[in-house]
Amino acid sequence: MGYSVALNFEDGITRFVDCPADVTVADAAYRLGLNIPLDCRDGACGTCKLHCESGSYDGGSYIDDALTDEEAAQGYALACQMKPRSNLVLSIAASSAVCKTKPAPFDAEIAGLNRLSETTTEFSLTVKGNLAFLPGQYVNIEVPGSGQHRSYSFSSAPAAETARFLVRHIPGGLMTGFLARAATGTTVRFTGPVGGFYLRDIKRPVLMLAGGTGLAPFLSMLDHLAANGCAQPVHLIYGVTNDADLVVIERLDAVAARLANFSYITCVANPASSHTRLGYVTQHLDLAHLHGGDVDVYLCGPPAMVEAVRGHFATTGVTPASFRFEKFNPSGVAVAA
Ligand code: FES
Repeated sequence: MGYSVALNFEDGITRFVDCPADVTVADAAYRLGLNIPLDCRDGACGTCKLHCESGSYDGGSYIDDALTDEEAAQGYALACQMKPRSNLVLSIAASSAVCKTKPAPFDAEIAGLNRLSETTTEFSLTVKGNLAFLPGQYVNIEVPGSGQHRSYSFSSAPAAETARFLVRHIPGGLMTGFLARAATGTTVRFTGPVGGFYLRDIKRPVLMLAGGTGLAPFLSMLDHLAANGCAQPVHLIYGVTNDADLVVIERLDAVAARLANFSYITCVANPASSHTRLGYVTQHLDLAHLHGGDVDVYLCGPPAMVEAVRGHFATTGVTPASFRFEKFNPSGVAVAA
């Protein structure tokens, strides 16, 4: 048993490798059939250079031509030399196809269907096999009988017993129609995990901005943080169009009860709503939550909302230390990350 090493490829595909402390990442990947770019295997050429997003490791030995001190200080390492000292998240500068891999397939059964409101359903899956993902990632779920798939972010943490997802009801929508006739025990297949919109190591305050069922990846992140602790402030602004879209507030309250540094507010765009906060997320974005720029911002919602928030940030005069976003189509088709 070793450390869990997540290999994120350029095309958003993630594969997980079990890597003992005395084995290099390159060797562990190769044993699993993942051909990450290699040449000399001796720390001399730099072909296997990657970036460590999270975790600690022994960088091994190499020459400056392969990896400079400056690169090493920036988190770059050599797969043929590095050995893990903790779980790792690594970015590989190559596509999954180049590395002769693809998203892992999984079989699952529907464990629960929960109609949260007239617009939103949550369903959960019992997954066969060892499913691993990073909080915030998504999978491509085959809609049985359609020959098509739809993309949904996990709304559950990686350690949860069942994988959960939020689905917005779309009239005539493939997944909406399937869930309307599905029952507990129905078989579902999916591939993944996918996506670069995942929670990084928290080194500064975090601001999360969610639109509609774009809340799902944040639920995964927050459950993960609640279980593992977080010393930095985390603030969430959760905006929806109509009152019926405002769901799983009890889960946010549960996170707030466990995570002292977590706070959240909600808002509803429809002016006819009786909600205490009307308007869009940007109207409730307090500059104090930008911490003068010393903040990591995560944004997930429909494309128009994401673009509006990005445009708003340009007017604040504050540049966040990092700004990550994911657009999604409410029908469950990933648009961009
Ligand atoms: Fe040449 Fe790693 S393969 S430095």
